[in-house]
Amino acid sequence: MCGIVGYIGDKNCVPILIEGLKRLEYRGYDSAGVGIINSTECKVLKTKGKVSELEKLVFAEQIDSGLGIGHTRWATHGEPSTINAHPHLNKDKTLFLIHNGIIENYLSLKKGLEKEGYEFISETDTEVLAHLIDHYLKLKNSLFQAVRYALNEVEGTYGICVIYNGEKDKIVAARKGSPLVLGIGNNENFVASDVNALIAHTKQVVYLEDGEIAEIYKDHFTTKTIADETIIKEIFEVEVGVDEITKGGYPHFMLKEIMDQPDSIFNSMRGRLVYDEGISKLGGLQGFEERIINSKRILITACGTSWHAGLVGEYMLEQYAGIPVEVEYASEFRYRHPIITKDDTVIFISQSGETADTLAAMKEAKKKGALCLGICNVVGSSIARESDAGVYIHAGPEIGVASTKAFTAQISVLALITLLLARRRNLSLPEGQEIINEMRLLTKKVEMILKQNENIEKIAGQYMNCKNFLYLGRGYNFPVALEGALKLKEISYIHAEGYPAAEMKHGPIALIDDDMPVVFIATKDSVYDKVISNIQEVRARKGRILAIVNEGDEQIENMVDHVIKVPKTHNMLTPILTVIPLQLIAYHIAVKKGLNVDQPRNLAKSVTVE
Ligand code: M6R
Repeated sequence: MCGIVGYIGDKNCVPILIEGLKRLEYRGYDSAGVGIINSTECKVLKTKGKVSELEKLVFAEQIDSGLGIGHTRWATHGEPSTINAHPHLNKDKTLFLIHNGIIENYLSLKKGLEKEGYEFISETDTEVLAHLIDHYLKLKNSLFQAVRYALNEVEGTYGICVIYNGEKDKIVAARKGSPLVLGIGNNENFVASDVNALIAHTKQVVYLEDGEIAEIYKDHFTTKTIADETIIKEIFEVEVGVDEITKGGYPHFMLKEIMDQPDSIFNSMRGRLVYDEGISKLGGLQGFEERIINSKRILITACGTSWHAGLVGEYMLEQYAGIPVEVEYASEFRYRHPIITKDDTVIFISQSGETADTLAAMKEAKKKGALCLGICNVVGSSIARESDAGVYIHAGPEIGVASTKAFTAQISVLALITLLLARRRNLSLPEGQEIINEMRLLTKKVEMILKQNENIEKIAGQYMNCKNFLYLGRGYNFPVALEGALKLKEISYIHAEGYPAAEMKHGPIALIDDDMPVVFIATKDSVYDKVISNIQEVRARKGRILAIVNEGDEQIENMVDHVIKVPKTHNMLTPILTVIPLQLIAYHIAVKKGLNVDQPRNLAKSVTVE
């Protein structure tokens, strides 16, 4: 979704804004722009397309200024175009606004402003807010108050930054529903939609909360609520290093992140396994364990890949902890009036911790008194901060839009939670220790799969021209089938569907012919024989088959066109291994098709609007 970066200080803001926007490119966008104010001019430069195009425009102008804001837009209202790109301006071209979010009542606000003679040149909701701030600026004669009054009329979500030629000593920034973080420097300050845009300059950050407005000067900042009450904010130190947000010699972030998995999985478990007691230790849940263990029900809610991890969590928690679990899309949960009680624990899984639907679902569950737990990757993200308790997955920054290492780390954390709850309920010490042993072996086993990358690339080459794929799995491998299909769709734009293998007979079997490859995830578990029957059914209809199987499995190898072998592990940890070949297949097919793997069309890394 849209990226925001702002700078005020003694340096020239231009390279800082461009570099910041480049670091935000991974969020997904379709146009970009900057607004710069110096002692002699107010300049806005925008373009459809990439930040590199904007960079050419901006450097050609040779502007030098210590005050500027930059934006990457992911279109919601109005097509991607230069005119719809941000910043948006007031009529005098003295006030510039960048915005992430959606102004839901923009049409009624627009009508009111039109009556006053305001004219609009773009199709965006953001331009309405720029004029509304201008309207109040004329009445209040203060940028801060103008922003505050305007926001009081806004329904919807926003992370905004505003600069104004009449008050060149500040950036005004405000947040409701879309993340904003201030970066505190030495005689310079920054603001951005995520820390990745700031960490090359400062590690000191302040997270704005919903309903807060900041005035950012070069040497200090102040924060108030939208109701004009002063608030004191805490400064945090971020741990992410610049090397973690670079490709590190890999051609794409996605490949780097797939290859990172031995480390990211290890980090998700580090210091959390207590072998002697066969249990896990999760500091973030301390003080809440009893309430979780005594929950009548656990609900898991999330979107996309995180939702798939949630499905794996459901299987684990029900099988080993014996607590009833329901998994639901956050986008549905928030609107269908779910029955939630104080006896429920609701787990919100989100890599970014900023997904609007998941955040809104959490607000709903909190209102109803449930215990809200977050499983997030991004430290300090909204879901992490607003949940009652939670566990970070510690996968490190995930930049590729297609989530890979976050998925495996989410499952690892769900396994840790399962172990904790199961041991406190019925799981025996030896069973707990067996799980820990297997968790410790994961790193090596993941490395063994990654070593097959070249072979997997060759297999990908044989399937790259197919137009449709079916992914089938059962039990713990059903969510993996969904995830494998999602990865392929997202980055290769090939239609793919995931199904429980046994459901094939109830419909999808009609699709199978020699043009429709079927990917089976068929590890040796309690439903292995049944999956073999499903494989036979596909073979009987001349379907091409690629199977993910366990090492030593010759039975399936002799039945299918291609196999990729993964080591055996504890059944609940299987998805961590079986998903990796599917990530690599999707990656190599997309690369072979010449597609933009890290920033696939239409997608955003964190979906901060509904
Ligand atoms: O940041 P989140 O985990 O909340 O994001 C949820 C989904 O938007 C995300 O998993 C999406 O499906 C990815 N692009 C999957 O690769």
